Amino acid sequence: MSEPAKPEPLRGASLSGDVILYTGAAGGLGADTTLHFLRAGAAVVALDNNRAKLDALAARAADERLDGLVVCETDLADLAGLKRVLERLSNDVGGFNVVVNNAAIYPSKPFEDYTIEEHQAVQRVNVEAGVVCVQVALPRMREKGWGRIVNIASVTVYGGWANLSPYVQSKGALIGLTRAWAREFGPYGITVNAVAPGAFPTDAEKIHPDPEGYVRFVLDHQAVKRRGEPRDVANALMFFISKDSGFVTGQTLNVDGGWVMR
Ligand SMILES: NC(=O)c1ccc[n+]([C@@H]2O[C@H](COP(=O)([O-])OP(=O)(O)OC[C@H]3O[C@@H](n4cnc5c(N)ncnc54)[C@H](O)[C@@H]3O)[C@@H](O)[C@H]2O)c1
Repeated sequence: MSEPAKPEPLRGASLSGDVILYTGAAGGLGADTTLHFLRAGAAVVALDNNRAKLDALAARAADERLDGLVVCETDLADLAGLKRVLERLSNDVGGFNVVVNNAAIYPSKPFEDYTIEEHQAVQRVNVEAGVVCVQVALPRMREKGWGRIVNIASVTVYGGWANLSPYVQSKGALIGLTRAWAREFGPYGITVNAVAPGAFPTDAEKIHPDPEGYVRFVLDHQAVKRRGEPRDVANALMFFISKDSGFVTGQTLNVDGGWVMR
């Protein structure tokens, strides 16, 4: 069997000098994207609450001899603790100039079975932790007159999925914040955009009871008849983070193989 091809850096602008705060960075989409960012020369502060996945990410970066990765095991649900950790990390790295709000939890059951506390727990991790990240990063971005914020939304905001109401609520909130922050931070050279992934084969997909039927459902809905790969999301993120995308803000880009078209 031939040796797998060494991953190439994605085409596009260099991220040299960027310090990226990335939540949920050890996850299915986050880990591969973090490696793409490192290959492009960025420093990445990778937050996640899964020690084993963070270790695996660090090992992959070490295998490729990539510099610039700082992994931090943190529970985003503890907002006060998160703020303290971020303030320390921000001082250590000289401020974040990019924030990617990517971490998410995605419980699945009928709406009437959720307690209000379960609803709130999803908003805390998926939305409010992102608010804290931006609160900590913003002063330095404003000082520098440059920054990039990307919120990870989801194809589910466009309808068609039952049992995910707290999750869909959280993704709708992130799209709203994308527009509100874009308007407010634009005068300081800070752009804010959202990426809405379609259906990617990561842990997020394991909530579906019939995996083969779900793959058929996904491919039937996509115009592009292959499954999405983490690098598809990484490419979109690279564009929004790059120096060249400064005239694009407040937008939501669907990276879903042509599932939703609007
Ligand atoms: N995979 C898909 O098909 C898909 C589709 C649409 C949207 N998305 C979105 O893309 C993003 C990444 O999804 P993914 O597929 O990589 O999922 P994933 O579950 O593999 O990754 C999410 C990461 O967030 C971390 N996390 C969860 N709760 C946390 C907490 N309290 N504190 C710290 N870290 C926490 C997890 O440990 C995990 O590593 C999410 O925002 C998700 O909603 C994914």
